[in-house]
Amino acid sequence: MTTSTYLFGDTPPDTRSDNAMMLDALAGMLDPFSRRQLRRIGIRPDARCLVVAVGASCIAATLAEMAAHGEVTATDIDLAPCRRHPRVRLVRHNIVTDPLPDDGFDLIHIRLLLAHLPADQRSAVLARLVDTLTPGGLLIVEEFEPTWRTSVLSAPNLDHADRLFATYHQAFGTALTTSGNDPAWGRRAHHAMRGLGLHVETTGHTGTWTGGQAGCLLPYATAGVIRDRLATAGMTVDDIDAFRDLLLHPDLVVKGNLVLSHVGRAPTSS
Ligand SMILES: C[S@@+](CC[C@H](N)C(=O)[O-])C[C@H]1O[C@@H](n2cnc3c(N)ncnc32)[C@H](O)[C@@H]1O
Repeated sequence: MTTSTYLFGDTPPDTRSDNAMMLDALAGMLDPFSRRQLRRIGIRPDARCLVVAVGASCIAATLAEMAAHGEVTATDIDLAPCRRHPRVRLVRHNIVTDPLPDDGFDLIHIRLLLAHLPADQRSAVLARLVDTLTPGGLLIVEEFEPTWRTSVLSAPNLDHADRLFATYHQAFGTALTTSGNDPAWGRRAHHAMRGLGLHVETTGHTGTWTGGQAGCLLPYATAGVIRDRLATAGMTVDDIDAFRDLLLHPDLVVKGNLVLSHVGRAPTSS
């Protein structure tokens, strides 16, 4: 099996605050959509739920409120940024190498991790998650379609902003694929989940963000965490700095990457 090469896993200690900002920005951007999805789908009050790679998201807390008589376990390899909730069991756990913390879940949620894993790890993890679903259980996989190149809706200088975003798109894409990330996975998750016997429905979501808001703080913080990788991939230090300055500008308006929420239901009986 390939060694894990999670792009944000081996970054310098001085990028820790940018890493925390990145996880907070993801939560700010995506939690409202993920929560709407969960409430629309609905779960039993006694459901057993697992949130894999929870980061700083509130998904586990939302599930704990919905499954008032159930159980919620949330995992991550790094618990420092994770929010605490009295009804959520938070477990330090590597989804690639550790056995699952339990068995038989009615709902599993995993957002923005699988694409980061090399293909063999990704398919092994997906298969293990499907195997541990109860009959009729749900696996929710949420991922981005990376479209930074076409993000800019309005900017102090549109051509300059488009060039910076295109340069970032190119360098970030190179850094991601070098780490084993599959930029097409956001879409291909649907096919992979169907192939494992789930009935899958996919819903898309995007939003509009102004400079300094969560959807802009995400690339701002990301570019801080992986500054060296972006430079190696050909983005100049001046462009990285100009890109980050622009992301805080009040006259910048962008659309977020499309996020796809794939909801897969296991057969009710085998
Ligand atoms: C891009 S962040 C997404 C966080 C959260 N799911 C969200 O959408 O807001 C990826 C998360 O996966 C965690 N992670 C990375 N490799 C992991 C692994 N092998 N097992 C479990 N968690 C992992 C990271 O610590 C980080 O919190």
